[in-house]
Parts: sequence; C-alpha cells; structure tokens
Amino acid sequence: MAYQLSAALMGLAATVVSAQEQQSGPFALHVKGTNPNSTIDGYGGSCHAGAAISGLCYSVLSDTTDLPNTFQYWFNYTGFQQVGDAEVGTLTWNQPYTDGEGNPASVSQAMGLVYQTTSNVAAPLFGFSQEVFLIGFDSEKELFGYSYIDDAKFVAGQQPPTAPKASYQWAVCWQYFTGYFYQSVAWIQAGAPHNPTCEPVEITQVNL
Ligand SMILES: *[C@@H]1O[C@H](CO)[C@@H](O)[C@H](O)[C@H]1NC(C)=O
Ligand SMILES: *[C@@H]1O[C@H](CO)[C@@H](O)[C@H](O)[C@H]1NC(C)=O
Repeated sequence: MAYQLSAALMGLAATVVSAQEQQSGPFALHVKGTNPNSTIDGYGGSCHAGAAISGLCYSVLSDTTDLPNTFQYWFNYTGFQQVGDAEVGTLTWNQPYTDGEGNPASVSQAMGLVYQTTSNVAAPLFGFSQEVFLIGFDSEKELFGYSYIDDAKFVAGQQPPTAPKASYQWAVCWQYFTGYFYQSVAWIQAGAPHNPTCEPVEITQVNL
C-alpha cells in the first residue's frame, strides 16, 4: 500500500514536471510607449542587478538581427492555466555563468516582481526566487500580467469569487536596484504610478 501510494505520488510529480516543460521562444520583447507623444520605442533586455539577478531594462536598438542572449526570452507554461485562449505561465531567460570547469553555461530563470514598501511600482527581476509573476501573451502577442482575485470587489466576510484576468499595467521607469539605477520595465500595481519617471508602455513578443 505504501509502495502504491508513493508510486502514485511519483506519477503525479512526473506529470507536474513534464507539464512544466512546455516552452516557446526565443523571442524579443518590443517595448513601445502608449502616450500619444511618447518617444519610447525599444526592446527589453536583461541587465545586471545583483549576483545572478537581472532587471528587465529598456534599450533602443538600431539593429535587431542577431540579438544577443540578453534580449532573448522564452515563455514557460504548464497548459493547465489560461485566460480565455491565452496560456498563463512565466517569462524566462537564460542567465549565463561559468561552470566549475571554467566552461560557459546558462541557467533558466523566471521573472518575479520586487515590490517597494512605499510605492505602487514593482520591478520585474529574474533570479532564483520561487515567487514568479504569472504572465501570458494575448492573441495580439501582447504581454499581460495575470490575476484571479480583485480586492476592489471584496465584501466583508464573503469569500470572493475568482476571476482570471489579463491586465496591461506595464511602464518604463527609472528604477533603483540596490545600487543600480536603470530605465527599465515596471509593473504598476494600481492607479497612477508613484514614481514620476514612469511612462505607460505595451510589450509585444517579436519572433526571432
Ligand atoms: C523553462 O522550461 C524549460 C524547458 O522545459 C526548462 O528547461 C527550464 O528549466 C524552465 N525554466 C524555469 C525557470 O522553470
Ligand atoms: C504632443 O506634442 C505636440 C508638439 O510638441 C504638442 O503640441 C501636443 O500638445 C502634444 N500632445 C500631447 C498629448 O502631449
């Protein structure tokens, strides 16, 4: 019986692991300002924000052929979670490092959000945190953030209904990462951004 149970659990674990493994990419992330006069028109790229931690920086590129690894992203999804027809998953990139034998290697890292205590502007960061930000790409290939609870609709004492939702609250802002100050992609949690350097943007997947 104990054997059957652990075999069943292993079967379940194997299902979960293989379900995690669906991946599309690589692609680039086109970042474009949505204000009528915005001059923001560039790409998202990984930038150093600590040991094996990267932000999602904004860069203007004159040439988008042969984009380096820092501009290449993937979409990892399980196939178990959707908003409408769009899969929900994580945005990943391959963080390069040098392995124990001195050879170049890379490790896949998923994007999470880092929150500031006194701001509504959160910074996407790639690192080893288990806290990932669930995202997806809609039918127009536009990047959305996923949520399933809306606390603006809470009623005291009543269990709220879940409502899977795609939101587009991206901005490009000057953001501070423990010593580094970068113009980079941000997620505005609600309302107008607290950081006055933020400009709203849309982010679109561009196949490489
Ligand atoms: C993303 O999926 C690929 C392919 O299955 C896998 O090798 C990689 O480890 C995944 N990345 C993360 C951060 O889970
Ligand atoms: C856009 O720029 C033009 C020229 O500088 C200006 O007249 C106009 O008011 C601006 N529009 C907005 C929405 O900022």
